[in-house]
Parts: sequence; structure tokens; C-alpha cells
Amino acid sequence: MLTKILPALRGILATDDGLPRLVKMETATADAVKIAVPDDCGDIPAELRRQLPEGAQRFDIAGVGCYQAVYADGSGRVSGKVAVVTGAAQGFGLQIATDLARQGAWVALADINVAGVEAAAATLNQEFGPGTAFGVAVNVADADSVQAAVKAVVAEFGGIDIFVSNAGVVRSGSVKTLSVKDLDFVTNVNYKGYFLVVQAAAPILAMQHSACPDRWFDIIQINSKSGLVGSNRNGAYAGSKFGGIGLTQSFALELVADGIKVNSICPGNFYDGPLWSDPVKGLFRQYLESGKVPGAKTFEDVKKFYESKVPMHRGCTTPDVMKAIYYLVEQVYETGQAIPVTGGQVMLS
Ligand SMILES: NC(=O)c1ccc[n+]([C@@H]2O[C@H](COP(=O)([O-])OP(=O)(O)OC[C@H]3O[C@@H](n4cnc5c(N)ncnc54)[C@H](O)[C@@H]3O)[C@@H](O)[C@H]2O)c1
Repeated sequence: MLTKILPALRGILATDDGLPRLVKMETATADAVKIAVPDDCGDIPAELRRQLPEGAQRFDIAGVGCYQAVYADGSGRVSGKVAVVTGAAQGFGLQIATDLARQGAWVALADINVAGVEAAAATLNQEFGPGTAFGVAVNVADADSVQAAVKAVVAEFGGIDIFVSNAGVVRSGSVKTLSVKDLDFVTNVNYKGYFLVVQAAAPILAMQHSACPDRWFDIIQINSKSGLVGSNRNGAYAGSKFGGIGLTQSFALELVADGIKVNSICPGNFYDGPLWSDPVKGLFRQYLESGKVPGAKTFEDVKKFYESKVPMHRGCTTPDVMKAIYYLVEQVYETGQAIPVTGGQVMLS
């Protein structure tokens, strides 16, 4: 019931400035309103409206716990929104989560690298204030793990406004030789993982919308330029990303009725992130050692080779991606799109 009642409560407490965060209290205060919602309740928002007196801010909810509504007072671009970012221990995910926190969001950093997201959340709390962020364990390829992570986010913040499905992996290789194990690994994280996180998060966003029908919520998938054009000797990855756009378009058609926009962002290569730059296992080292770039003798040679394919002659950065994220959140009249952020390397037809 927690994952139904708290999002519904957030929704009916919405003001012109947005939905509050619901903060767990250890014990009920004297002014806490007692709420009890039967398990078979067919319309939770209506039932909550019936039970709540005007202006109530603290709640003692049977079977759920005691919560207090807290409204944001900042002026950031996503001030007071609850955001979840998967794959947030490093790379794009960490930088996206950091920028959302900088712009006023409460952020759940979800990753299979639990120590990584806990450390990252502690850093964000130091920088942007206690309670801004928390780290949550998730394996996006595992349905139970995803459900548990979404429940943990709702228990912490009360609901979700922006879900960024960012976790992704690469195993490049020829179709003639790539192992089925590597194919399954990539497909399970990039394609099935995206399906599973939307399956778990969509009911939360839909419940908020049913409680405040004039509000829209966002699911944003970090896809890739390889979701728009084929990628030589990288079919498993490109296929998983093409499939992700099929999911985005299909989810967008279905979830529009629930007040949820679903879009993908398709970045070009992010050379500054660890996927490319890690000195031990990054792609610069892998491509240099495998001779994939003819004549290359240094990481810089490999980088120049790939940059020369980009009309704007540089890789993609997180600020480039953030502009697309804020566009999607602020644009109330768009869904089902796949937005390239590639410096002109991939153009839509
Ligand atoms: N790096 C690029 O050049 C590039 C370009 C375009 C798109 N992308 C996409 O951006 C996203 C992030 O890429 P990145 O370069 O930051 O990658 P990265 O490898 O630096 O980080 C990926 C994060 O995802 C986490 N992760 C992996 N499997 C997981 C799972 N099963 N469950 C939960 N978390 C998991 C990892 O622990 C890691 O923290 C991916 O979807 C990727 O396809 C990357």
C-alpha cells in the first residue's frame, strides 16, 4: 500500500509550485492526521480527500508510517521535483544526478554499485544540503530488485516526478564471434532493464497524476546515437538501443493516459566519462590495443579519429545532455521522441 498511498497523498497535496516531498517521521506528532485506507480501496485519492482536513501537513498512515509534507522553496529548474537516476555511481548517471540536485531536485541515485551511489549521495548531501540525495541498490535487469528499489524511493521521498533510465552496458564485437553470454548481458541491462524500470515506476507516476490530473511526469531514457544508426561490430549494443526507442514510442502511446511523458535522449560519444577514459579498461585503451584505429599510437590518436566523425569535432558532454533533459521536463507538448545530442553526427530523417 505504501507505493499507492504516498504518491496519491503527494498528488492531492500539490500546490501551484508542485508536489511536496513526504518525509518520514519516527513517531506521530500530536497534530498528525490519522489515515486508514482499506486494502480493497478502488479510488485512493478520493478516499484520502474524504479523510483529510484542509491544511493537514502531518500524517499517521495505518500500515505505512508517519510522514510530513515538505515543500521546496528553491528557484532551480527542477526545484522540488523527486528524480531517480539509474546507473548513477559514475559517468553520465552521476553527473546527471548531480546537476538535477544542483537545480533543486531531491535525487535517488540507483546503481548495482551500492558503495558508489552511497558515497555519491553523501557528497551531494554535503554540497546541496542534508536530505537532498540518497543511494539505493538496484540491478535493473532483475524485476524484484527494481520493484524493491522503487519502493525504497517512495518510502524516502513519497513519489517520483522524473525517472531517468540511464544504466547501460557495452560489449562490442562482431556478430560472427560475440558470445551469447555477452549478447544476453547487454540485452538484459539495456533493453529488458529499461522495460522493468518503467513497469515499476509508471504506476507511481500514474497515481500522482490521478490525484492531480493537471500535472505531468517524466520518464527519460538515456539511449545513444547507436539507437538511431547501426554501429559496426557493435550489434548487440545498437540493437538494444534501437529496441529502447521502440519501447519509448510504445510506452509514450500507452502512458499518455496516465499523465506520463516518455522520451529518449541519444547522446554521441562521451569521451570524458570512464567508459572511454578509464586508463585500465576504458574504450580508448581497448581500441588502441586491438588496433581498431589504423595508425593510432596514443589515446589522443584514438580520440581524434572519433572526433573527426563529428561535424562539431568534439564528444558529447553532460551539459549537452542536461539541456535535452530540461527541455523534455519543461516541454509539456512532446512525448515518444528520441532526441539526438550528437554534434551533428546523427541527423533525423
Ligand atoms: N559513454 C558514452 O560514450 C555513451 C554515449 C551514448 C550513450 N551512452 C549511454 O549512457 C548511459 C550511461 O553510460 P556511461 O558512459 O555513463 O556508462 P558507465 O559505464 O560510466 O556507467 C554505467 C553505470 O551503470 C551501472 N550499471 C551497470 N549495470 C547495471 C545494472 N544492471 N543495474 C544498475 N546499474 C547498473 C554501473 O555500475 C555504472 O555506474 C548508458 O545507457 C549508455 O549506453 C553512453
